[in-house]
Parts: sequence; structure tokens; C-alpha cells
Amino acid sequence: MEEHIDNLKEKLLAKIENRTAVVAIIGLGYVGLPLAIHFVGKGFPVVGFDLDGNKIDKLHRGTSYIKHVSIEPLTKAMSEARFDATEDFSRLAAADCIVICVPTPLTETLDPDLKYLIQTADTAAAHVRQGQLIVLESTTYPGTTEELLLPRLAVDGRRAGRDFFLAFSPEREDPGNTKFNAGNTPKIVGGVTPNCLEAASELYSTITRVVPVSTTRAAELTKLLENTFRSVNIALVNELKVLAHKMGIDIFEVIEAAATKPFGYTPFYPGPGLGGHCIPIDPFYLSWKAREYDFATRFIQLAGEINVSMPTYVVQRTQEALNNRQLSLKGSSLLILGMAYKKNVDDDRESPGYVVMKMLIDAGAAVMYNDPWIPNLKPTRKHNFTMESIPLSAQLLASIDAVIIITDHDDYDYKWIVQQAPLVIDTRNATRNLTNNREKIIKA
Ligand SMILES: NC(=O)c1ccc[n+]([C@@H]2O[C@H](COP(=O)([O-])OP(=O)(O)OC[C@H]3O[C@@H](n4cnc5c(N)ncnc54)[C@H](O)[C@@H]3O)[C@@H](O)[C@H]2O)c1
Repeated sequence: MEEHIDNLKEKLLAKIENRTAVVAIIGLGYVGLPLAIHFVGKGFPVVGFDLDGNKIDKLHRGTSYIKHVSIEPLTKAMSEARFDATEDFSRLAAADCIVICVPTPLTETLDPDLKYLIQTADTAAAHVRQGQLIVLESTTYPGTTEELLLPRLAVDGRRAGRDFFLAFSPEREDPGNTKFNAGNTPKIVGGVTPNCLEAASELYSTITRVVPVSTTRAAELTKLLENTFRSVNIALVNELKVLAHKMGIDIFEVIEAAATKPFGYTPFYPGPGLGGHCIPIDPFYLSWKAREYDFATRFIQLAGEINVSMPTYVVQRTQEALNNRQLSLKGSSLLILGMAYKKNVDDDRESPGYVVMKMLIDAGAAVMYNDPWIPNLKPTRKHNFTMESIPLSAQLLASIDAVIIITDHDDYDYKWIVQQAPLVIDTRNATRNLTNNREKIIKA
């Protein structure tokens, strides 16, 4: 007999409370892997699912594939039979809570690419059973949970809120952030029904403070507001950086001064362009959906244009700096420092370093790179570089025409780099504390 949803909910809440609820994580990447560690840390039995057999093998061997994530807690939990990683999706049937963390990239025409999500939904639909909680964490446009996920899961007459629980809770993971993680960042949760909201809130409240919102769409838009806010503000300082340079003013000095205002101002920093899986991509999910409402998201468009133009600015400034030393870009020998999209992470997705590198090579420069976090560059959908990180040495730095700092990893000894290199193009203000050799530094 079909059980009433209230009974199903009480059973699920009890299982969450006493930590016997089995938590399944689909997609063990930058988001899913740390999340699995958090749930294991809270005492839940966890099963991680991924299509990538290499990742599953590595987890079984106790090796992390994300440099800043230690998987020791998972290895220990695995030895106690409290964690497993698998490609066998039929095991989803044994889960009580299923959390989806698969990629949501853009297509080449900047439209949402939901193939991973659709695939996951169809796979999960084959195994969903009564009383399960399913939560989507992947960043996406308002409406995805109810328009795309719900109909795919509601097969065989099953209904969300009557037979299973469905919610959206955006991931706010900030890879490499040593201060904030899933344990001390509040979690936004929106449910398809009040029972769905309650079930999902109960699960996440074991990890952190939950902020309930009225619908899954409000939760979806909350995430996009956060990332659009970042994209727009970064674009603003990127534009002002170019103007400040023309005015002979140091934008970084200005930002630090403005940041002393204790209210009404939040500092954002310019750079060589946007990178990563989130900020360059997420706002376009919203622009795409806005078109359905005949609405143009002008801030998103403008911010996108400015941020995308930043690598060109870096190349122009490099060219000027070389020119001032009687050198041309063509034929010059350049070293890019940092190909990760931000400091202290091993993630080079959408990194502006690739765009800068391509423009420099197209202009006839010989380009090498060093990045302790990215040992080699592999061809991607957008770029075709096969290169290895070159070890830094005094000899190497003295032999090239300029160093371009794209990513300000903490591992670098900037003082030493500036001492050895003839010219340093600094896109991150990484050399701000240096007092010697300042004439060699060009901020860009
Ligand atoms: N990386 C971040 O900083 C961050 C922060 C907040 C939100 N997000 C969002 O979280 C989601 C995941 O991002 P990520 O950075 O962890 O991506 P990722 O590429 O690091 O990891 C995704 C994982 O999902 C796996 N996968 C793909 N399709 C699958 C399927 N059908 N079944 C099972 N596994 C599948 C991939 O093999 C990969 O291991 C995205 O929507 C992203 O926008 C990312």
C-alpha cells in the first residue's frame, strides 16, 4: 500500500536525526567531493556516484584528485564501510537522500548545457523509490527543478511531495577558501512542497544553518543573484582599472582606501579576466531564461563584455611595456605565472590565462608557463595547448623578456621573481609589498 507522505517524512526525519539515512552524492567533483566529506563527518553513511571511473578508482585507492581536498575522512569511512564510491547507479535505490552536483556548463552559443543534469535525472528516475529526498545543488536558471527535473522523476504516476521529496539548494562552495566552507556557510533551501522543504532543511541543518525560501525558483535565483553580483562588480573595477591607468592613478590603492568605509562598500578586485566554473557562466543561465520573458539582462551583458575584454588589455599593456624597452611582442620570450583561474586551486577551467596565452602566441611570442597547481595543460574544447609547467629558476627568469602574473598563488616568492626577471606584468597586484625593483613592475 502507498504510504502517506506525512508518514514517509517522519520516517526520513528520524533517519536523518539518528544518522542512519544513506546520503547519495551524484557528481564527485569540486562540489560533490567536499560535500561527501561533510556528510561523512556528520556520521551519515555516504555513497558517491560518478561516471568518471578514474575518480572512483582513485577514491578506492585513497588518492585525492583535487589538490586542496584531503580525502582522508573518506578513506577512513570506507574502511569502516560507511563510505563507498561507485559507477553503479542501481545503488541509488538504497539511498534515502540523493544530492545532485553534476556540471551545468554553457554550450558554444552560451546557452545552458543541461545534458549532464538530464542524464542524471533519467538515471535517477529509474531508481527513485517512495520516501526518498532528492536535492539539486548544481547552479541553474530559475525553474529547472520544477520544469526539468520534476517531470523526469515523476514517472509511473509518482508525484513530488506525495511520493518523494524534491528540493533545490544551491552550492556555495568556494574552492581554496580556508575561512568559509559548507560547515560555516548558511544553506539556502527551497522545496517543491512544504514537506519537501522540511525534509531538505532537516538534512542540511546537520551541516550548517539553513535559510529556507518559499520556492525552488527563489532558491535558484538566489544563487544567480550572488554570482551575477560578483560578475558585475568585478566588471566595474576592471573598467575603472583601465580608466585609472589613463589617469595615472593606482586602482588597487583606491580600492584599499574605499574598503576602509565600514558600510555601503564591498571591495572587488580587477584581474586578467574571469575564470572558473561559476562567475563567467552562471549569469548567462539567467540571461537565457530572461529571454522567455522578453527581458534583456543588460548588466549581465555589459559585465560579460568588459570581463571578456580583460585579456586583451593585459596583452596590450605587455606590448606597451616591451615597446618601451625597444622590444616587440613578436619574437619575445614570455613566461606566464599561474594558469589556475584563481590562487591556490588546481582548477584551470575557463582560466583567462589560456586566452592571454593564445593571444601572445598568435602575436608571435614564445610563451612558457609555470604553475605549481597545474603541472600540464591539456587540449580543451576551446584551446589546444599541450604544455608542461616549466620549473622556475634564476637562469630561466633572467633569460626571458617578461613574466606575466596571471594567478597570484601564495607559493610564489614574488620578491625573488622580480629580482631575477627583467620585466614583470602584474595583473593581480601580487607585488604590492615589494619596495625594491619597482621600476621593473607594470600593473595591468
Ligand atoms: N566549482 C565550484 O566552485 C562551484 C561552486 C558552486 C557551485 N558550483 C556548481 O556545482 C555544480 C558542479 O560543479 P563542479 O565544479 O563540482 O563540477 P565538476 O566538473 O568538478 O564535477 C562534476 C562531476 O560530475 C560528474 N558527472 C557528470 N555527469 C554525471 C552524471 N550524469 N552522473 C554522475 N556524475 C556525473 C563528472 O564526472 C564530475 O566528476 C555545477 O552546477 C557548478 O556550477 C560549482
